[in-house]
Amino acid sequence: MRTREERCAMLEKLRTDFIGLDTEYTLANGKKTRRIYLDSTASTLMLGAAHEALEAFYRHYANTHSLLHFPAMIATSEYAWAHDRVLSFLGADPERYACFFTGSGATAGINRMARVFNSYRSNRGVVLVSLMEHHSNDLPHRKHAGKVVHLPLTTHPDGQPGCICLQGLEKTLGEMGDRVNYIAVTGVSNVTGIINPVHDIARLAHRVGALILVDGAQSAAHIPVTMSGHDDPNADLDAFVFSGHKTYVPGSPGVVVCRKDILQAIEPDEVGGGMVDRVFVDRYIVSERFPDREEAGTPNIPGAIALAATLEVFDRIGMDVIHDDETELINFALEKIRAIPEVIVYGESDPDLCPRAASVSFNVSGMDHGLVAAILNDYYNISVRNECFCAHPYVKEMVMDDLLEAADDIDDAEFEKAILLKSGMVRASFGLYNTREDVEALADALGEIIELRDFYRSHYDPADAGMYVHKSFKLAESEHFRVSKFLDGYFR
Ligand SMILES: Cc1ncc(COP(=O)(O)O)c(C=O)c1O
Repeated sequence: MRTREERCAMLEKLRTDFIGLDTEYTLANGKKTRRIYLDSTASTLMLGAAHEALEAFYRHYANTHSLLHFPAMIATSEYAWAHDRVLSFLGADPERYACFFTGSGATAGINRMARVFNSYRSNRGVVLVSLMEHHSNDLPHRKHAGKVVHLPLTTHPDGQPGCICLQGLEKTLGEMGDRVNYIAVTGVSNVTGIINPVHDIARLAHRVGALILVDGAQSAAHIPVTMSGHDDPNADLDAFVFSGHKTYVPGSPGVVVCRKDILQAIEPDEVGGGMVDRVFVDRYIVSERFPDREEAGTPNIPGAIALAATLEVFDRIGMDVIHDDETELINFALEKIRAIPEVIVYGESDPDLCPRAASVSFNVSGMDHGLVAAILNDYYNISVRNECFCAHPYVKEMVMDDLLEAADDIDDAEFEKAILLKSGMVRASFGLYNTREDVEALADALGEIIELRDFYRSHYDPADAGMYVHKSFKLAESEHFRVSKFLDGYFR
């Protein structure tokens, strides 16, 4: 067993082992600098160790459905290991839970679980989601699982929303009781980074026989997660979904961990090769083996293996160490950004009231989110995301005051335009490679942007959908990576 000091040292070593940290671009002011990547909530950069493990695996690459040749045996064993790794990483008892990989990210997994839960208990037609959900943890339930009711959030003394309101949830459960099939909540908001008390929510859900699905897209890489084995089994989670591209493995599939008894009670939602034992012209016999029965078709074998490699590295360091390290950085970021009077930070930002992970979203008073994000990129090489982050109801609720203020002295047509430009935020989000220097660079840049706002504004035109484009500058063609250009070099 490694000591905490040893594990912290491993984390320090890991910090620089990500691909693309030293990528440089030439900016609008002519300077060439290293990019500062603050968009990990969208997608994290790739862990070098996982990339190397994958490259080594490619020498043995084969389909897991072939059985009797050496590379197929290796691929099959490592793909099976990937499932075990996920279960162990999430503290999920393999007797009770199965892990399977799905198509495009967490979205595929959530759609799948909405269909599964709906088939499992079609007599319960209500799903509760919170107001802070990503569209991917809202629309699938609307489409596949019945009536969706949005749960309120806590409101803090400064008027900013916090996490899911447990009293509000209790009240809704009291009113809807046995009509609620399941509650689908995010573990961590992709807008504010606020962490939800998912085990308390699980207890309340289970009290009325509802299930709980946790959208773990923003949790898996940032906070420790335990599916099972709580002192109170009612705190256990029924299903958890996340995706590799937010866990330092680009292009990897979505991941689902779900109670086996739920999956066993219904026919697998997807059918095809790999999930059946025998097929006749008039019937087929579904495999009882996990994960095979849940994975029709050839899976994303390399993606799953690279993801599992990352999870193994995380487990060696310990998610407690990773989470503590990130908490320190997030709190530092909140402190630095909140110290700028013109900056509005969204969501309750007292870490004692509301712990956060990964993301901080804000606006600069009097400047549109698209303009700030464009300047941060073009003049400071700081990559951030802007707009509504696929969480329109949550973001709109928080920026509404600014919108109404803007509406005061303009006509309706201009207000419509203003909605696009103003209904959004700038999001800085953090990964293991980010440092206090990155945060300082962001705070310094914001300070300068505010000071020189007229100069910067004069260089931009508003474009579609709340975006801004520089009037004369764009990325140099020589710095634009193009696959076809790369292949020219390959054949030279
Ligand atoms: C909280 C949350 N849920 C779901 C998703 C969708 O994940 P994916 O892009 O892997 O489908 C995201 C993506 O940003 C997210 O942040």
